[in-house]
Amino acid sequence: MRLGINHIFEMYQKGEKISAITAYDYSFGSIVDSVGFPIILVGDSLGQVCLGYDSTVPVTMSDMLMHVKSVVRGSKKSFIVADMPFMSYQPDPSTAIVNAGRLIQEGGAQSVKLEGGTKIAHIVSRIVECGIPVMGHIGLTPQSVNQLGGYQVQGKDKKEKLIEDAKAIENAGAYSIVLELIESDLAKEITQEISIPTIGIGSGPYCSGQIQVIHDVLGLYDGKTYKHTRQYLDLKQSVFEALKRYFDDSNSGDFPSSKESF
Ligand code: KIV
Repeated sequence: MRLGINHIFEMYQKGEKISAITAYDYSFGSIVDSVGFPIILVGDSLGQVCLGYDSTVPVTMSDMLMHVKSVVRGSKKSFIVADMPFMSYQPDPSTAIVNAGRLIQEGGAQSVKLEGGTKIAHIVSRIVECGIPVMGHIGLTPQSVNQLGGYQVQGKDKKEKLIEDAKAIENAGAYSIVLELIESDLAKEITQEISIPTIGIGSGPYCSGQIQVIHDVLGLYDGKTYKHTRQYLDLKQSVFEALKRYFDDSNSGDFPSSKESF
């Protein structure tokens, strides 16, 4: 049986940290689930780490559906959150409801995540009214990179706006909010101002929980490394070394041996 938002809320009420991570396919979905993460996010960060785009902007609903289905098949217990990709919810509430519904009904996710504050609160509330749990996402919102002009930390100058955004998303019925790249003290204040869990990425230690992109944690992505990530493994190097050994063994005729033959 999968966890539900009631479990996430119980953890929050008990003051337990809510640890989340992204996954994008069956194999990693299965490993992350077996570790015990209560939340797996199938993030649109798959645009960069799986599809090789330079932002999340080109990711489509069909990209998301394929990866969500794969993670759902690989996992048993974790609560699966599916990112709504750029332009799948911004145009109007009806478009948003149809696409959120597809991620739940076809994809098998339990929840969707949308980027934005006051401007999308009316869309969040319409999706929630349809019985779909919504996770908000404020602070740095990568789908707006072309408007923001980069991925900057959101500081005190945005304080009033970010608190207003968080409250608007909470009032719209979201069960939690991702705070991305917000200065620690401000993330702490937002966490204290609202009554739903905040899940931080690059937003310091005072959030109700943390989320990381799995490729950053495992050292698998050939892109930038960020100050807010902790790399636990150099998986890219380990994979390279293993593949090089197979390549050399295969080239030299050492593989397959008689033991590996029929
Ligand atoms: O797409 C993603 O991976 C995300 C996280 C950074 C929260 O939205």
